[in-house]
Amino acid sequence: MKFLAISGSLRAASHNSALLRAMARLAPAGVSVTLYRGLGDLPLFNPDIEASDPAAVADLRTQIVAADALLIASPEYAHGITGVMKNALDWMVGCEAFVLKPVALLNASPRAVHAHASLTEIVTMMSARIVDAASVTVPILGSHLGEDEIVRHPDISAVLQSALHALRAAVLATRLERQ
Ligand SMILES: Cc1cc2nc3c(=O)[nH]c(=O)nc-3n(C[C@H](O)[C@H](O)[C@H](O)COP(=O)(O)O)c2cc1C
Repeated sequence: MKFLAISGSLRAASHNSALLRAMARLAPAGVSVTLYRGLGDLPLFNPDIEASDPAAVADLRTQIVAADALLIASPEYAHGITGVMKNALDWMVGCEAFVLKPVALLNASPRAVHAHASLTEIVTMMSARIVDAASVTVPILGSHLGEDEIVRHPDISAVLQSALHALRAAVLATRLERQ
């Protein structure tokens, strides 16, 4: 089973990216988590160039379509999701890559309620299936926990493993529905 993880931060020291990398290491047997690295290469969304299918957009779409489920984590900027995350999502509206895709929305900051609500609204509008049991908030921001510390933290790693199991179960349930 393949999960694609998308961080809404371009920062090298991003807490959201560290959280997703930690989740890749905590994934249950049989589940691989790949971190999408092309967010900063996407052109700014413009409906006029949609038909030309820019290579970076095609690559994101291919990776999403090939994934059984998505893990999405975005920082909160000015009470919204980051511009780069919204840009990526806007590119995926027309191609319907999100339709019925099981999605876990991870929140690295209990303060970031607006970004989390906004992400929930956008991804729901795109007809993805948000898996509530896999969508968890963990206090990474301000904790000085890096990827290694998240993996080693007994409470946080348990929450993240439980989220990954819930996402895996949702994928299996979706497969059964389609049979
Ligand atoms: C331009 C900007 C706006 C921000 N706005 C908010 C905000 O509205 N609410 C909040 O809780 N944090 C806000 N923050 C703090 C970020 O969410 C925080 O820096 C977070 O660590 C960024 O995620 P990252 O570590 O994955 O890059 C803002 C940061 C920046 C740079």
